[in-house]
Amino acid sequence: MKNPRTAVFKLLAASCLLFAAIGARGAEPLALQKVMKDLERHMQTITDGIARGDWDLVEKTAPMIADHPKPPFAEKRRILSFVGTRLGKFKAYDGETHKQAQAVGKAAKAKDGPGVTLAFQHLQASCNNCHSEFREPFVAHFYGKKAAVH
Ligand code: HEC
Repeated sequence: MKNPRTAVFKLLAASCLLFAAIGARGAEPLALQKVMKDLERHMQTITDGIARGDWDLVEKTAPMIADHPKPPFAEKRRILSFVGTRLGKFKAYDGETHKQAQAVGKAAKAKDGPGVTLAFQHLQASCNNCHSEFREPFVAHFYGKKAAVH
């Protein structure tokens, strides 16, 4: 190495950039937030389908909620380390949403209007159940808004 001081300086500069990048990324919305926005959009589509009695539309949309995409691996690790010992509960809420969305799809396939409406109510409740426990702490932790509730 010709000039160790230059090398050290370069190393420092590189790590500053790295920290800046990590810092900036910290404030960025989670991929989970995009997943959630899409879930909301699909819920709206189902609401429209119910209003019009368009069971095909409801049947087609329900699996997009039941089998929604998961955040990428790196983000999953951040989420897992934050959720920690409450992981079982978090997963159970997600599982409930999955189950209720499937029930909506099944009732729509059978063109069972009242069944769709009932399952849809259960589905909405499943979203709310997770939100009332996890949403605020997530927003506090990942975006630094409000104090985290534990
Ligand atoms: C297992 C837990 C869980 C379930 C189930 C869940 N959510 Fe969420 N949701 C979250 C968390 C955590 C956030 C906060 C994410 C963030 O702000 O990055 C959130 C945020 C949201 C947001 C706000 C996004 C924004 O723009 O800030 C919407 C809309 C949403 N969820 C819709 C839904 C719908 C619709 C369902 C049911 C079909 C659902 N969620 C089910 C955990 C859940």
